[in-house]
Amino acid sequence: MALEPKAFMSTLSKRVGLTQDDKALLKSQADWGLEIAPQMADQFYAYLGRDEEMNTILHIEDGRIHRLHSTFVQWFHEMFTGMDDWGHSYADRRWKIGLVHVRLGIGPQHVVPAMATVIHEVGKRLETDGKDQSLKNALSRICMIDLAFIEQAYVEVCSSAILSETGWTEALFRRLIATGARSM
Ligand code: HEM
Repeated sequence: MALEPKAFMSTLSKRVGLTQDDKALLKSQADWGLEIAPQMADQFYAYLGRDEEMNTILHIEDGRIHRLHSTFVQWFHEMFTGMDDWGHSYADRRWKIGLVHVRLGIGPQHVVPAMATVIHEVGKRLETDGKDQSLKNALSRICMIDLAFIEQAYVEVCSSAILSETGWTEALFRRLIATGARSM
């Protein structure tokens, strides 16, 4: 069940329809992305801070929120640059971001609305700056890919932990999940 980040990236790119035109457009707007990234980070952490549970996670250790601000800016900018044309490095980085959140116990219930906030805030800024709808579409696609990496990390980590602890086969595991889902 081990996930290969580059292969996952290719699958997701096809699935969400991230095209060469989208990539070219994102790259052409990379400076704008970097320019607006600090404001996006402020809005993102203001949103997380309004939730008691997430606010506690953000402030659990000194300096965390400061570190997060700069990693967010970097993450946001990378969606525009694609790092290595949305290749191995991009996929590995997204996979590792997913693993960080799994380790911290930050679940899909936190991450999905958080990504919706990013898309919403970028959408507002796109309008203010008179950017084209095609940029909004390209950004939404890459955000969905990044979100899928974080979400999939949960599934992969949980599955491989159970398989390695129990020695079950993947087929048995899938059968148990299907049975469990039917009984809920
Ligand atoms: C759109 C969803 C999210 C994105 C794109 C995102 C992005 C990132 C990135 C890029 C990192 C740095 C990873 C690394 O060190 O390699 C990170 C770490 C972290 N994120 Fe998120 N994040 C998201 C959602 C959340 C949510 C909902 C929370 C809830 C509080 C959260 C809390 C944290 C924390 C606590 C860390 C570790 C900070 C540290 O101690 O270094 N993130 N995130």
